[in-house]
Formats: sequence, C-alpha cells, structure tokens
Amino acid sequence: MDAIDKIRERTLAAIVAAADPGQLDAVRVAAIGKKGDVTGLMKTLGSLEPDARRAFGQAVNQLKDDVQSALDARRAVLDSAALDARLMAERIDVTKPARFQGQGRIHPISRTIDELTAIFTEMGFTVAEGPDIETDFYNFKALNFPDDHPARQEHDTFYLPPDAEGSSKVLRTHTSPVQIRTMEKVTPPIRIIVPGRTFRSDHDATHSPMFHQVEGLVIDKKTHMGHLKGCLIDFCRAFFDVDDLPVRFRPSYFPFTEPSAEVDIGCSRDGGGLKIGGGDDWLEILGSGMVHPRVLEYCGVDPNEYQGFAFGMGIERITMLKYGIPDLRPFYDSDLRWLRHYGFLPLQVPTIAEGLNG
Ligand code: PHE
Repeated sequence: MDAIDKIRERTLAAIVAAADPGQLDAVRVAAIGKKGDVTGLMKTLGSLEPDARRAFGQAVNQLKDDVQSALDARRAVLDSAALDARLMAERIDVTKPARFQGQGRIHPISRTIDELTAIFTEMGFTVAEGPDIETDFYNFKALNFPDDHPARQEHDTFYLPPDAEGSSKVLRTHTSPVQIRTMEKVTPPIRIIVPGRTFRSDHDATHSPMFHQVEGLVIDKKTHMGHLKGCLIDFCRAFFDVDDLPVRFRPSYFPFTEPSAEVDIGCSRDGGGLKIGGGDDWLEILGSGMVHPRVLEYCGVDPNEYQGFAFGMGIERITMLKYGIPDLRPFYDSDLRWLRHYGFLPLQVPTIAEGLNG
C-alpha cells in the first residue's frame, strides 16, 4: 500500500471516529492543514519527474477531494446531532398556560378601563383623550352650561389661580369636554370613548376628589335614541356578564343633551348582599342623551346634517359593583394587601375573544 492509500485510510477512519466538531477540526488540520499529511504530499510534487508528477498530482488531488467530502459529510452529521441535543435540552411546552411569578397586580381601575375598551372597540369605537386641566369653555360653556347655571355649582369645581387676564382654568369635572375637542377636530362620523381622570371637591365613602369617568360620543347623519339604547344595553350586559340584565332608561337632565336619560341596571339586595341582574331593585350607573344641537353648533358641526348621542359613567362605581368592592377610598391608598386582594394578574388581559372575566 503506498503512502497515499495509507493516509487516505487513516484520515477517513479518523473522520468517522471524530465525536464532536473540535475533534473533527483536529483531523482536518492534521490532513489538509498547512502542515498536514496531504499538504505534505503536495509539497513533494516539485521533486518528481514531469510524467510521474502528473499522475501523483492527480492522485493527491483526488485524496484531498475525498478527505474534504468526508469532512463535510461528518460535519453535517455532527451539526444535526448537536441541534437535536440542543432542541431536547431547551424544550418548552408552549401549550402550557403562562405562569406569572411577580408580585405586581393590575389595579381594578385599569382593569375596568381595559374591559370597557375591549367591549367598545369591538363595537367600532376608538379611544380618545383630553387634558385634565381645562378651560371654562370646554368644561362648561361649549357644553351649554349657561354662565349662572346651578349645574356649575353642582360640579364642585376645583379652580386654578386666575391668569393675567383674570380667567381661571379648572380641573375637568367630567370627561365631556373631550366631546367638544373631538367634534372641533374631526368631521363625523365620530365614534369615540374617552376614559380618564376627573375632579370634584367632594370626599366620603362613595366620592373621591379625583375619580375616573368614561365618556362616549357617536355622531353621524341618522344616529338616534334607538342606537343609544342598543349600544348601552349591549355594553351593560357584556360588562356585567349577565345576558338578560334588565336595563332601564329614566328621563333626566343634562345641559349638553336633549333628551337626556339616566340608565339603571336591575339588581337584588337579598340578605344584605347585592346581586347584579334579576331582583326588583335598580342601580343608577350612567348618564346619557342625544347631543344638544347647541353643542354641535359650538363645535362647528351642522345640527341640520348631523346628530348623535353621548354618555358618561363613573369607572369606580361600575368597578365596585362588578367586583363587589365596598369602599371607594382604598382605591387610592396603594395598600399592597388591598391590591393583592382586588387586583388582577397581569397576564389575564381582557379581550372579547379571550373573555372579559379572567
Ligand atoms: N358628564 C355627565 C356627568 O359627569 C355625564 C354625561 C355624559 C351625561 C354624556 C350625558 C351625556 O355627570
């Protein structure tokens, strides 16, 4: 057996025996590296006669090709074995439910905002926002509150110190100013909800000086009271997760809607506990009405062409009712025990598809 055959035999055996990429590389260097056996044979070519050189050169080239293909084949085998091992080691079961290991909880207010956003966006609403600090124009005047109207006092408004011209900004007493800001900017059709902070100088077990409301506004050419009713009945039933929840519309008054209606949901109060749905009692949960033509005019929307409805509700109130939270004050105490009890796990995100109720 000549030198070429010996090297071939030894090298191919070593390649097959290489157990990992490191060993395989050592075999490669020993064969076709700068000082390798095959390279060594190449170097002897120069000392041969031309005829012998051609035959020997071909044989050495053949050897080099054979070694290279054996190396490539072995590398492919080792790579795929390494990948298999890694996949086995890193295997995770993506079908298992996510397990939350942190301490944090989603505050019930944020949770309710997520839930009502899921319900109203499904109906085609988008979410709008406005500033907490408002001018008298947006908070009152453009909403058709006359200058000396008692409703202004009823709002227990927080006024900021007057500016150089003597006019005071207010902390918005409701989210309704965002109706005005939206109608000024957007050509109807409009379908928005506006969750946000609101402020009134009032503090007891059911009132906080800072609280949250969600406003709704729908403006189009033929939007009528039937749409208002359908939209709010659907919302109440979805939010409280009671399919046959009784919903009642009671005539009311707001300066910026005409006609106006307050909305009650059916409940029972057997044995001290409160149950949403059924029963013969009612709970008021929101204010609503058809947008007053004068409000449309204030915003440059032609009341002969467009009409629509608006509604507003207290987020704390519907949260307390849905989750049986008895007192409003701890909402803002940042007491971890309360948050752990009433808060929600961050991975339970409410969506219409996944369900609103965790
Ligand atoms: N802004 C009213 C309030 O704070 C609620 C409301 C909004 C009523 C929109 C009618 C229409 O009480």
